[in-house]
Amino acid sequence: MRPTILFADNERGIRLFCRQELEAEGFRVVLAEDGDEAVNLVSTYTIDLAILDEHMPRCGGRESASRMKESNAELPVILFTADSFFESYSSPQVDATVIKSSDLTDLRAVIAKLLPATRTNQNRERTESKPASSAVAINSAFFQEIKEENINLSFLLTSLRAWLRLGPSAYHQRDRFVGLLRELQEEVNLHFSLEEGYGYFENAVSVAPDLAERAGALRDEHKKMESEISRLVEQAESVRTGSHTSEFGNLLARARSFLDQLQSHETCERELISLAFNNDLGTVD
Ligand SMILES: [Fe+2]
Repeated sequence: MRPTILFADNERGIRLFCRQELEAEGFRVVLAEDGDEAVNLVSTYTIDLAILDEHMPRCGGRESASRMKESNAELPVILFTADSFFESYSSPQVDATVIKSSDLTDLRAVIAKLLPATRTNQNRERTESKPASSAVAINSAFFQEIKEENINLSFLLTSLRAWLRLGPSAYHQRDRFVGLLRELQEEVNLHFSLEEGYGYFENAVSVAPDLAERAGALRDEHKKMESEISRLVEQAESVRTGSHTSEFGNLLARARSFLDQLQSHETCERELISLAFNNDLGTVD
């Protein structure tokens, strides 16, 4: 099991950038956009390390760290600050302070120090030696809320479908199409992150095996689709700067396939939510 890092920052762009970078390092990343949300996630899920923006609405990084340590004194916490004049802040609540930068070298070094491989292996051994099989369950109420509130994703899917109906005749406007694909990549990554942070969770006790199996399979699809949209955007960039209309046709076909795959995934997840509501098993509300 990959170590899980909680990353809390009120700026969406920073959240998405850091998530992408940390996932590339092999971590699972859960996002929060303010301190209250971050504290709730720590009390609900198994988090191996927390990175907290110093200034966030409702509850800042230092106060969030204090509240987290009250329930989990051993949780490593990094304060991530934009204040270049900061004085090194050390306290029992904060294990390290790192200045924000697009170069994450310092942050990576501090994470490696606070989350050494030996500790990660110990966590893995502890998890793997649990006698009961752990199952993937869902929080159906949160999950439904995520689906209903993601208007941006629905809007993007509708726009892209309209483009696909235009077909190769839209070649001269391909810059706009590529832009929409980039927006879709960002929205999909955010959507999956919310689902994995609030919708799915590991349950130590195996309940409703049929739903757990479906839930596990659907959650696993996220990684595959994130890779696919990433490759799709790369291909779109080369089509945008290239001059072959046939490549644009290939891009449209691949985009159509991805949208179908995403739509099927969303339908299956909605069915899962519905089953969980009706079944009252494999869920926590
Ligand atoms: Fe999903």
